[in-house]
Amino acid sequence: MTGKVGLVTGGASGIGRAAVLAFAREGARLLVADVDHGGAEQTAQEARALGADAASVGLDVREEAEVERAVGVATQAFGRLDFALNSAGIQGPLREAAEYAEHDWQQVLAVNLTGVWLCTKHEIRAMLRTGGGSIVNVASNFGLVGGVGMAAYSASKHGVIGLTKTAAVEYADRGVRVNALCPGATETPLVGKIVDADPVAGPEIISQITAALPMGRMGRPEEIASAALWLCSPGASFMTGAALSVDGGFVAR
Ligand SMILES: NC(=O)c1ccc[n+]([C@@H]2O[C@H](COP(=O)([O-])OP(=O)(O)OC[C@H]3O[C@@H](n4cnc5c(N)ncnc54)[C@H](O)[C@@H]3O)[C@@H](O)[C@H]2O)c1
Repeated sequence: MTGKVGLVTGGASGIGRAAVLAFAREGARLLVADVDHGGAEQTAQEARALGADAASVGLDVREEAEVERAVGVATQAFGRLDFALNSAGIQGPLREAAEYAEHDWQQVLAVNLTGVWLCTKHEIRAMLRTGGGSIVNVASNFGLVGGVGMAAYSASKHGVIGLTKTAAVEYADRGVRVNALCPGATETPLVGKIVDADPVAGPEIISQITAALPMGRMGRPEEIASAALWLCSPGASFMTGAALSVDGGFVAR
């Protein structure tokens, strides 16, 4: 990945942050983007401490003008865009489908699905200008199966996989690979937000998810980041349109 230029959304925290640091160790040049600009800059500083060329930008993935601007910042700063990891996402409240509020549904879909589409759109445009690239969209194990309380989240992540497959087919002969990564339960602040959002049902749902993991433990952000690194790298040159599970066996059982 030496010298390759990458954009990571959701880079302030969790999986996105771990991926930035993994890319940095491999010599990539990076733009770290997040709605939490301070957190994105903190991650960029950590990447620079590893010797990488890294900058940050504030980005709300729900806003197309901001997405276009962030991709422009990457190409202006580094001359091109070779890979992108679209990791920005939210969980939303845990409610059964019949109890879900429309406002919450719209918020989850806006960040997790529309946001990933807007990023994919502008990243593809940038990559086509320099002969191609690799996009990894972070979906979820709940992009492959349903989960109690996860109507909006699971719908958004199934949507990300559909978007990913379609873009992969459309651009396969023009050098742009697009894959989805489907992490299982991973120890990040997002999991803590499930409990914060619903102190009564949240811990019970987390313990149900953990109990259903064949490995009997949650993943670490670094374990998801290593798969993202490979998908973005030339080592995955024949892989496009895939939904790769990295979930301790969750969807296999
Ligand atoms: N942690 C898990 O168990 C798990 C499992 C499967 C999939 N995922 C997915 O992995 C991705 C990363 O999650 P994480 O666990 O690292 O969570 P996290 O909360 O640690 O990080 C998510 C990041 O996205 C950013 N973000 C949220 N809304 C944004 C917006 N509108 N624009 C730009 N940035 C925004 C947040 O500020 C945060 O830095 C998400 O797409 C999530 O759905 C997580």
